[in-house]
Amino acid sequence: MDEFNSVSSEMSDYAEQHTTEPTKLLKKLERDTYLKQINPRMVAGHLQGQLLRTLSLMIRPSRILEIGTFTGYSAICLAEGLTPCGQLHTIEIDEELRSTAQSFFDQSQYKDQIHLHIGNAIEIIPTLDESFDLVFIDAKKQLYADYFDLLIDNVKSGSYILTDNVLWNGKVLEEKMDKDAKNLDLFNKKVHQDKRVENILLPVRDGILIMRKL
Ligand SMILES: C[S@@+](CC[C@H](N)C(=O)[O-])C[C@H]1O[C@@H](n2cnc3c(N)ncnc32)[C@H](O)[C@@H]1O
Repeated sequence: MDEFNSVSSEMSDYAEQHTTEPTKLLKKLERDTYLKQINPRMVAGHLQGQLLRTLSLMIRPSRILEIGTFTGYSAICLAEGLTPCGQLHTIEIDEELRSTAQSFFDQSQYKDQIHLHIGNAIEIIPTLDESFDLVFIDAKKQLYADYFDLLIDNVKSGSYILTDNVLWNGKVLEEKMDKDAKNLDLFNKKVHQDKRVENILLPVRDGILIMRKL
């Protein structure tokens, strides 16, 4: 399936062929997304989904926050690492995605642990009375710095923040960047200079920036 990618499609295919298969539910969710959504390429999919699942299983978070639910693929992958009483909050601005995402959460074993919030993350984040161990930012690119600023003082030391699409299809390397690329480049530089975190930018798919709060 077509997707943003910072490596060649051959390399990506090879990586997928040597990566644990998604569950039946995730395959169904991805198929449904490609059949019914206008912009299906936004779905995390096999490789990124398995990376999120693996990182979550390594971290074993009790509280996860996701910004940008879309149809629910990444939320279900992240939920796999939750502790038995752990909770995942996911925020989606588009009301029309509510029933699709919720129906997949209900079909998963995490239906009582995943809480879907519909609205603007900038307004919803301050209402969540939680201290998160793992945050996945995957929503409006121009607001990445705002999400980061809202969250950084409210995550515990040792917590992780993952941000998707930070290479913006390689456009952050272009001399004449578009608006989103410029915003993402500024965001990458801001994080890199921030003394509250250590960071690694992985050139996986469209680029994932992993930060650890010091
Ligand atoms: C790239 S998609 C998320 C993909 C999903 N995380 C996955 O991997 O399957 C981005 C989503 O963020 C949502 N979004 C954009 N701006 C938002 C905001 N300010 N607050 C909450 N959701 C937002 C969009 O409607 C879209 O569904």
